[in-house]
Amino acid sequence: MNHGYSYQATLTASQSIGWRIEDIIGGKNRLDFTKPFMPEALAWVEPLTFLTPDEKRILNQVRGNTYLCIFGLVEEFILPFVLDHARTQLRDDDYRIRALLQFAGEEAKHIQLFKTFQQEFKDGFGSECPVIGPPDVIAAAVLAHEPLAVAMTVLQIEWMSQRHYVDSIKDDQDLDPQFKSLLKHHWLEEAQHAKLDTLMVESLAEGKSEEEIMRAVEGLIAIGGFLDEGLAQQVEFDMDSFMRASGRQLTGSEMEEFRRVQRQANRWTYLGSGMTHPKVLETLEGISPKARQRIESISPAFC
Ligand SMILES: [Fe+2]
Ligand SMILES: [Fe+2]
Repeated sequence: MNHGYSYQATLTASQSIGWRIEDIIGGKNRLDFTKPFMPEALAWVEPLTFLTPDEKRILNQVRGNTYLCIFGLVEEFILPFVLDHARTQLRDDDYRIRALLQFAGEEAKHIQLFKTFQQEFKDGFGSECPVIGPPDVIAAAVLAHEPLAVAMTVLQIEWMSQRHYVDSIKDDQDLDPQFKSLLKHHWLEEAQHAKLDTLMVESLAEGKSEEEIMRAVEGLIAIGGFLDEGLAQQVEFDMDSFMRASGRQLTGSEMEEFRRVQRQANRWTYLGSGMTHPKVLETLEGISPKARQRIESISPAFC
């Protein structure tokens, strides 16, 4: 592969970024609930034309809370996965083990950051916003798949988060600055993770037959299907959270429209934007052109 990623370079980049949780959340760094949290490219509240501007903002904030909670949730399986992967070769390459431990340490920090955010959101928003889980059950279901399938899933998730920030968050001046700052700090460290995921996928694919690689791709698709079922449940939670917070009781046809739009918004946010990311497709093609073709054959349903 010609990507030029290395354990040493990602470790150096990570060390120069390293931020502390207490410097970016709490104290004077407060959420502003008069502003939207999520870019419209991910929130998809505008197509719900039966909502007032205030109701759209409330739904946008519900989606923002869910977004960071879901990141916390997936990081609960990324953390043990990276630790297990690091442990397979402790002595051959000092930069490898240090870069992977740095990666795991950052994910542990992100999990803690998102828990801190969740509490602050709860206090400021004023009503409950449930999120799918529990994280350990979801993690166990994902980690039951073979390592290459899990590594491909993680690759997709981390490039997806890169795409969200660069394409739709960075230049959006309407978003709450504090929420945007959390996304920016997360993105800064995720940029290294996406490169390390590429190296993990390549090392796990090394020496595997095309049949074995395609079995892992089917595992990736099965994990995607499992997460997609969870997202369908999350849309129901978000609809309830929205109605509780806004006091607006949606009619039957409005609920149907809400489900239709938000189901696809969730699919695009957490699945489609990752599986169509050019870097994900390049990595899959590098290990087997068939792997890329298989993912490209199903991705339109998630876009
Ligand atoms: Fe993270
Ligand atoms: Fe990450």
